[in-house]
Parts: sequence; C-alpha cells; structure tokens
Amino acid sequence: MGSGHGHHGHHHHHGHDRHGAKQPERFDPARAALLDDPKRLEYMPPAKIFELLDAPGGGTVVDFGTGTGTFAIPLAENRPDLTVLALDEQPEMLKMLRAKPAAAKLPNLKLVLNEEARPYAAKVDRVLAINVLHELGDDAMKEITALLKPDGAILFVDWNSDVERPVGPPRDHTYGTAEAIRRVESFGLRAETLAPLPYHYVIRAKRA
Ligand SMILES: C[S@@+](CC[C@H](N)C(=O)[O-])C[C@H]1O[C@@H](n2cnc3c(N)ncnc32)[C@H](O)[C@@H]1O
Repeated sequence: MGSGHGHHGHHHHHGHDRHGAKQPERFDPARAALLDDPKRLEYMPPAKIFELLDAPGGGTVVDFGTGTGTFAIPLAENRPDLTVLALDEQPEMLKMLRAKPAAAKLPNLKLVLNEEARPYAAKVDRVLAINVLHELGDDAMKEITALLKPDGAILFVDWNSDVERPVGPPRDHTYGTAEAIRRVESFGLRAETLAPLPYHYVIRAKRA
C-alpha cells in the first residue's frame, strides 16, 4: 500500500513511525484553521456522525486524531453521559483544543496524547476517526485496535478517493472505499460500509 510518499522528513521528534500510511506526512498544525471551517459541518454534519457512532449510554469514546476537537467538543456537549477522550499525537493540536472556551466547560472531555490513552486499552466502546485513516501507519492501526472493548466499534470517516472532490487532500493521498476496507481488515478487524457522505466514505469496524 506504499504510495511513493514514504519519506519520513524532519518532523520526527514525536509521534510514531508512519510505516504503512497512505499519506505519511504529519498534519501541519499551521493548517489547523481548516479544521474549524464551518463549511465542513455542512458536508459532514456532526449529528449524523454521532448517530452512526451509536455510543452506548455511559460509555467511553476516543476521538482518535482529534485535531482541534471539532467533533470531540460537540460530542461531549451533546452526550454528557459519555467520557470523551480527545486524542492527538501532537501537543500543538491539543493546545489549540484546550484554548477553546467550550473545552474548559466540559467535565467529560479529556485531552490525551497517545501514550496517555494506554490505561484505556480494551476499555473503549467507540473510536471515532475522522479524516485520519489515510495518515495512520501500521503502529497507529494496532494502537487504535487495542483500545477497543471486545464488542467495541470504530467509525472511520475519511476523504474518499472514489469521488471527484473540490476539497480535501489529493486523491492519491487518500483511500477509496474498497482500499480502506482492505487496510482496516488487515489489522484483525471486520469492516462494513455505511452510507457515504458527499466526499467521505463511512466504515464501521469491529474485532473479527
Ligand atoms: C486532518 S486532522 C483531523 C482532525 C479531526 N479529526 C477533524 O476531523 O477535525 C488529523 C489529526 O490526526 C492527528 N494524527 C495523525 N496521526 C495520528 C496518530 N497516529 N495518533 C494520534 N493522532 C494522529 C494529527 O496530528 C491531526 O491533528
């Protein structure tokens, strides 16, 4: 699945080996404002995504690759019963999340780096992974899988290479639906395709 972009540049001071990632370049925190563009919410409505996530009452959800918490914050707001772990490998991203006034008011929202989520191994009901599957290397895929309870589920929502898009990364940096399913299933998960969003595929994965 190597795509020819496999050069690990100078941003190697924290985070993982990204071997296996379709897009191995780390997300540039300088581009974080894009994540808070309100237009996004028109083609990926949080309410719809939360419905598909289908988190059980009182459960624990990890927003894996939370960025600035564009989805973690409304999830924690709408579902005070949940514990929402907003996880990112980049402290710069969590710092931006922490600076949002809404974040401070939410007792059920916890900001964590990858290593801080280790105590939650096999204790997580749902993982939400938005616009991040194409950035995940093999180590990160194993990490995300290890978080899940035996009957837990991951909802992958990511840029779809099968459709022509006016927004998002170039198509050769992202997966098509079938390719995404193959990648996910190669980590001991079983994946099903849900109804897509205009520019995104939606995949639900459980332990096989
Ligand atoms: C394109 S942004 C998407 C942010 C957010 N999910 C959203 O949709 O608004 C991808 C984020 O995932 C994070 N990320 C990428 N690989 C990661 C990994 N292996 N572990 C934790 N975070 C990761 C990046 O630091 C970045 O903040």
